[in-house]
Amino acid sequence: MLYTRIIQDIEEQIDKGRLKPGGRLPSIRSLSDQLACSRNTVLKAYEELEKKHLVYSVAKSGYYVVEAPMERRTGTGTNDVIDFLSAGPDKAVIPYREFQHCLNQAIETYREDMFTYSDTLGLPSLRTELARHLRDLQVFAPPSRLAVVSGSQQALHLLVSLPFPNGRRGICVEQPTHPAMVESLRQQGVPVHGIEITGAGLDLDRLERLFRDEDIKLFYTVSRFHNPTGYSYTNAEKRRIVELAEKHDVYLIEDDYMGDLDSDAKQDPMFAYEPSGRVIYTKSFSKVMLPGIRLGLAVLPDFLLGPFEAAKFASDLHSPVLTQGALEIYLRNGLFAAHIQRMRSLYRRKALLLQEACRKHLPASASFSGALSGFYSTIGLPSPLQASQLIEYLKPKNVLVDNARKMFLPEWARDNLLRLSVSQVEEARIEEGIHRIAEGIRELLGSRTRVRFI
Ligand SMILES: Cc1ncc(COP(=O)(O)O)c(C=O)c1O
Repeated sequence: MLYTRIIQDIEEQIDKGRLKPGGRLPSIRSLSDQLACSRNTVLKAYEELEKKHLVYSVAKSGYYVVEAPMERRTGTGTNDVIDFLSAGPDKAVIPYREFQHCLNQAIETYREDMFTYSDTLGLPSLRTELARHLRDLQVFAPPSRLAVVSGSQQALHLLVSLPFPNGRRGICVEQPTHPAMVESLRQQGVPVHGIEITGAGLDLDRLERLFRDEDIKLFYTVSRFHNPTGYSYTNAEKRRIVELAEKHDVYLIEDDYMGDLDSDAKQDPMFAYEPSGRVIYTKSFSKVMLPGIRLGLAVLPDFLLGPFEAAKFASDLHSPVLTQGALEIYLRNGLFAAHIQRMRSLYRRKALLLQEACRKHLPASASFSGALSGFYSTIGLPSPLQASQLIEYLKPKNVLVDNARKMFLPEWARDNLLRLSVSQVEEARIEEGIHRIAEGIRELLGSRTRVRFI
């Protein structure tokens, strides 16, 4: 059919760069004359290209080429890099197309709302939907206690400096911890106390001593799939932490950023043990969906609703209506629930492969913290090997890993911990990546030994 040939021809010209972004397509009249076909045939082809978002039309002017999406711009050539550094979700399972439909629908549904400023704590209909969704995670709270935020990071950042009824200022954090929290604490200059967390958890007696003896307003804790260790607290540990917080009048921020990935329905969030306000629960949609939508939520105690709303208002007035609307549609239609099932099994498989590979290849002098799901885990390097040395060594070998140094408070800093994220590593390449890391450890330790003996 002639009209499909026109489409193919224009697509090819765009791909080969003969038609550039912003460039104008031949007018409908000139192309129909040239091909000796009807104007309707050309029009139909142009409209089809517009539906594919390859061109756009300007009234009384013509059709123009849209800038190509990333994969068409950069090509999809094979990539030899094994990337344990990137911490976004697995690109192969991102619900991109489905979310695109929800965005299109949200533009229609929320057209009016986009012409005005919206509610600071989020679209009421989304908050209702989120309250329903949270019940699956054992978090029971009315929509009125929920705040929609521009990524859960925004909630963390705002909570750091808000006043709490205990009148204290200090914040306690696991060491290491989520690096953007470390940065937020540094920027806001609040007094900070660290407590060590490893692949075996933390010392709860030490936590109690900190709560009892120091000026601690709140304890920020990543209760499941901890960043960077991957550790998840047991229910008994979570219950004990909540008891200690109540006993010593400390508040908790429970960062459950990847809680959706937990396939063990018996695992409770800390919030479930004290839902009345001692535990502030935060959740992200970045790791399990799309980081670019910048949406998260916080479940707040009543006493914080006013101050939090004022802080959020001062920060960005409200989160974008378009992505809020799309998320609401995505949740309401069961797309999120179906997507999460796929994600759980994918990340569980990846975590198992990673565990197996570490067991098989890492030298006994290295330690590995990996959990059964989530993205993150750490490799502790044998002394005197430094993470920065190994990272540089691995780059030309096409393996990327992160240095966990930035996940420590300055007084806790250490340079012998690697953070690995499996989210963007293909399953088939996990073992190869760990093998190269293990080789690097042996090689660098060996060469150091040789240097010492010469
Ligand atoms: C533990 C943890 N909490 C919160 C966040 C922030 O997530 P969001 O993208 O929702 O702001 C991250 C991001 O990496 C994280 O690792």
